[in-house]
Amino acid sequence: MNSNLDIEVDADVVSQLIEHLRRDTTDLAADDLFVPVSHFVDAQRARAEIALMKRLPLLVAHCSELPSPGDFVTREILGLPLIISRQSDGGVRAYLNMCRHRGGRVEQDAAGNKRVFMCRYHGWSYERDGGGLRHVPYETSFGSIEREQSRLIAFRCEERHGLVYVDLANDATRTLADWFGPQVDAQIAPWRLQDSRIVIDKSFTMDINWKLVMDGAIDIIHPRFLHQNGVGKLIETNVGVFREYGRHGKHFGARTKLRTMAKDGSALDGGSRYIGSNLVLYPNSMMIGAPEHVEFWTVWPALDRATRCTVQIRFLVRSDILDEQIEKRVHKSWEILEQAATQEDWPMERWIQQNAQAWPQGSFRYGRSELACAHLHRQLARDLDGAA
Ligand code: FES
Ligand SMILES: [Fe+2]
Repeated sequence: MNSNLDIEVDADVVSQLIEHLRRDTTDLAADDLFVPVSHFVDAQRARAEIALMKRLPLLVAHCSELPSPGDFVTREILGLPLIISRQSDGGVRAYLNMCRHRGGRVEQDAAGNKRVFMCRYHGWSYERDGGGLRHVPYETSFGSIEREQSRLIAFRCEERHGLVYVDLANDATRTLADWFGPQVDAQIAPWRLQDSRIVIDKSFTMDINWKLVMDGAIDIIHPRFLHQNGVGKLIETNVGVFREYGRHGKHFGARTKLRTMAKDGSALDGGSRYIGSNLVLYPNSMMIGAPEHVEFWTVWPALDRATRCTVQIRFLVRSDILDEQIEKRVHKSWEILEQAATQEDWPMERWIQQNAQAWPQGSFRYGRSELACAHLHRQLARDLDGAA
């Protein structure tokens, strides 16, 4: 029986994982994948990746950051200053934080609640609902100002499962439901993110290519070696089930307790207490299921160099189970993750980065069992190089 804290894992995944544990096998791709080392250092490649991201829906906020009409947050996304604003009708909109007069920022605060956004330079103001130009001081001293042309520039912004996404390409033919697809929807829904709270929210800027940070969080083999005295003891390495959901994908891995249960044939429980998972939300986010909370990672490449990124890590907990005890446990989980990430993962990724810069030749190899990493790099190659 699952406890009410637990999130069920698909029965076919559970049985496949148990089969792997009994036979000492894991899901395997047909072939290894090779990615040029230069892709981790090359400025032109980095520009192409950023241009690609600007064509895709990107995760920019969680609904709990803007629960009420008028709530807003300002974010810089790939160099674009955005205001994400909760509308009176409950929807969300994203505006470029740029005045249509002569380019000032119309909102200076990181977050707040406003009915209008006003530029401090010459006082032009804009409606939070729809971004229309509201008031122009000394308007008679301007020529006629075309209202429709003078709204805040808007980007498609949509919320699904409590995740707020912006599409900088304004592609009207693609909804967020299309982008996720039913399989990703089905994986996210049980976590009830729309009823969750952010318990941990941290950002780190590091001299590491963004893809190495993604790789490090997706990788299934390294915990046994790099975290041998920590998380490496709790999870089975090189045992996993990978599901491809279009460009996205999900790795399911076993905690060591599940191996014992699989081996002795005791009652099998496939919930999130025994099975860890990492859902990669292409291109730069992932959702890592822990027993009670869920971790979101979003990794942003720096605009001016291939060798730097900023990772934002957030822990979300369903509001109905969040009590003092769980909050304490979640903070403890963060301490463990922080220690592993800052002392073990990121120093290793930094060395890889330095090595790649010193020797940007040849390629890195993603083995047949490294399906989740390989899937991300295959998708990037498809989108950037038209690879098969
Ligand atoms: S630049 Fe915003 S009011 Fe002039
Ligand atoms: Fe790690």
